[in-house]
Amino acid sequence: MAKLYINEENEQCKIEPEVYGHFSEHLGRCIYEGIYVGEDSDIPNVNGMRVDVVEALKELKVPMLRWPGGCFADEYHWKDGIGPKENRKKMINTHWGGVVEDNSFGTHEYMELCRQLGCKTYVNGNLGSGTVQEMSEWVEYMTFNGVSPMADLRKENGHAEPWTVDFFGVGNENWGCGGNMTPEHYANEYRRYQTYVRNYDSKKMIKKVCCGPNIDDYEWTEGVMKTVFYKTNNGVGVDPEGDAAAAEIVLEDEEEVPESSMIDYLSLHYYVHPEGWKIKGSSTDFDGEVWYKTLYKALFMDTLIKRHGTIMDKYDPDKEVGLCVDEWGTWFKNEPGTNPGFLYQQNTVRDALVAGITLNIFNKHADRVKIAALAQMVNVLQAVLLTEGEKMIKTPTYHVMHMYRHHQGAMLLESALTGVDEIGINKWKVPKITESVSKGEDGIITITLNNLSIEAAEDVDIQFADKGYKVVEARIVTDTDMHAHNTFDAPETVTEKDFDAYKEEQDKIVASLPANSVVELRVKK
Ligand code: AHR
Repeated sequence: MAKLYINEENEQCKIEPEVYGHFSEHLGRCIYEGIYVGEDSDIPNVNGMRVDVVEALKELKVPMLRWPGGCFADEYHWKDGIGPKENRKKMINTHWGGVVEDNSFGTHEYMELCRQLGCKTYVNGNLGSGTVQEMSEWVEYMTFNGVSPMADLRKENGHAEPWTVDFFGVGNENWGCGGNMTPEHYANEYRRYQTYVRNYDSKKMIKKVCCGPNIDDYEWTEGVMKTVFYKTNNGVGVDPEGDAAAAEIVLEDEEEVPESSMIDYLSLHYYVHPEGWKIKGSSTDFDGEVWYKTLYKALFMDTLIKRHGTIMDKYDPDKEVGLCVDEWGTWFKNEPGTNPGFLYQQNTVRDALVAGITLNIFNKHADRVKIAALAQMVNVLQAVLLTEGEKMIKTPTYHVMHMYRHHQGAMLLESALTGVDEIGINKWKVPKITESVSKGEDGIITITLNNLSIEAAEDVDIQFADKGYKVVEARIVTDTDMHAHNTFDAPETVTEKDFDAYKEEQDKIVASLPANSVVELRVKK
């Protein structure tokens, strides 16, 4: 029998709420149709945002939303998306599906969406094809509270108050769609661009995200960290007359200025393509071997965080730079009959397991992973919501994100499994169970467990340092059929349900996890 030992006395690190973040790109039907339908739509909306979608997302406690891309970000010129809608430029979205982008969703609309969701903002700037001036002016437009050309333009466009930009990405995938750069070249560009991402309000410092590696490109991490951390003297300490005291005076003065760091986060992108990037494979039609292969690949996230983290530690031993996994999830073949450039895919119990496994990994690495964003929020890749006209359904991944919301902002607890079998088919071997445990401010301990087996249930014996814990809430997402998913005709096939297959004993709780399951137990003394 598997045993889960929890040391509730050892609170390890806060799980930042932003680890449960989302990503919305101008891609397929994510923004248009999925989120934004415009004020004149018959679909109920508030300022153009779908009411059903916003309400469902609010239940997830979405902490942060990244926008406008993705690859789209490095071709996005923000001035095209402001001002009267009838004057906004229409263009072809060359990255995604070759459809017309009418720019009716721009900066004001994004900020309105974040206001409705009550989430933090993460704007991704254009380094690949935009200028330093353009990026700098965007930040000025969004955040400057005073008299300036960009602040005045914002006011003319109907928003007197500045917004808060919590996170700002300086380019996206600059090793690929964001300019095909080498790590050193990008890192030097990053240093230059980020200089002009000004902080106009010292109480709301913008956190900067530097473009990190694709999957296991460790050379990228090394090259970027080395270059970004390369210290120039910045004029400080340069003392042509050899007067060291003069240099110190400059340093002292500088200490009074609120500190803006060169880099706050390094991103990492990792998608699970069970059958390889080219083939991708169906989202709903797969066999047992592909099930295990998918979960095996999802587990690789752990290795990636460790390895990239080790390289980061070399330059940043105090872990001041967070890892920002701002694109993660499954990437399958698009649904038959849909535009391949729209990346629309179904979402099964297998996706629920990928989500459960990945979020447990992020929790376990709470000391390094500070932000993450599931790709993408609606109608694209491993979406939490799918829409068709006025209909909307929640996917199995939605229900997992909903259960796991209790980890947001909680303290990671020390926990470890023993007696876990390795299961799988052929070389795709995975541990049968994965877990993570946290304690919220209300003292409730949240335990999330996954049973990766498609064949067998597993009893997990849960023991704490102290005795007397009782279950206050228990939920499950599962289905006996690994292919199970929700459709517009059958929207409730896979949902979150109450879970009662556990026993409370004197000094432990024994939970019986069915095959293919993601379980949440919340306990208190
Ligand atoms: O999420 C889809 C795409 O995947 C993003 O635009 C890009 O950053 C990544 O390659």
